[in-house]
Amino acid sequence: MTSTDSAQQPPKKAPAKDPWDLPDVSGLVVGVLGGTGPQGKGLAYRLAKAGQKVIIGSRAAERAQAAAEELGHGIEGADNAETARRSDVVIVAVPWDGHAKTLESLREELAGKLVVDCVNPLGFDKQGAYALKPEEGSAAQQAAALLPDSRVTAAFHHLSAVLLQDPGIDEIDTDVMVLGEVRADVEIVQALAGRIPGMRGIFAGRLRNAHQVESLVANLISVNRRYKAHAGLRVTDV
Ligand SMILES: NC(=O)c1ccc[n+]([C@@H]2O[C@H](COP(=O)([O-])OP(=O)(O)OC[C@H]3O[C@@H](n4cnc5c(N)ncnc54)[C@H](OP(=O)(O)O)[C@@H]3O)[C@@H](O)[C@H]2O)c1
Repeated sequence: MTSTDSAQQPPKKAPAKDPWDLPDVSGLVVGVLGGTGPQGKGLAYRLAKAGQKVIIGSRAAERAQAAAEELGHGIEGADNAETARRSDVVIVAVPWDGHAKTLESLREELAGKLVVDCVNPLGFDKQGAYALKPEEGSAAQQAAALLPDSRVTAAFHHLSAVLLQDPGIDEIDTDVMVLGEVRADVEIVQALAGRIPGMRGIFAGRLRNAHQVESLVANLISVNRRYKAHAGLRVTDV
């Protein structure tokens, strides 16, 4: 090939990255803010059972320690601030009502951390559950706005806390939609979800699309009520 030939060649494209080639996250410490509630406890239990180091957070350290002791699997308990400080990945599992206040108060401890928001802003009335529309667009976007120095992602919205906490269930038959701005961060969360038997973490877009994912829980609650179920979601053809 002459130098003229090579100048005419289009630049070689890097081969597409295998979307299932996920990082090893086994050494990461996972903290759970609001980890004394059903969702936080359920996630803590499943991740710790899969071999992850987990710290449960609470507004009161004693409550977190009691929950940790109850769950076993090497889980520790601490107040929310210490949990955030000691963790690499921090799952936010507080109610929507306490979301902004909790995150604002932990801005410093959460700086540089990979934050995973699983909060579903929902209202309830006689007709059942319905999605609220946060000013920022979604709970995840509110987290990103309040935590400019953290790496905010969103995931674990569609899980049943009942199934997560049931020690008689070995596999959680569901996919987990993971949203975020930075591919490497999203892949860490996908890999964490994938450590729980039965679960896959699937990239589902950027945070501007978190509202639909959070809102879909209102539909799942309707499904659960009609069919007396603990419904999950599967994404087909991936
Ligand atoms: N339950 C589910 O099946 C499920 C599934 C997917 C996602 N989620 C989401 O996960 C989050 C937690 O759900 P959950 O059912 O576990 O909720 P929860 O029991 O109402 O709250 C979780 C924990 O948050 C703390 N908390 C309560 N009020 C607070 C406030 N105002 N500020 C800060 N912390 C507060 C409490 O812990 P301390 O008193 O110990 O601090 C409580 O144990 C929700 O945002 C929900 O949308 C739930």
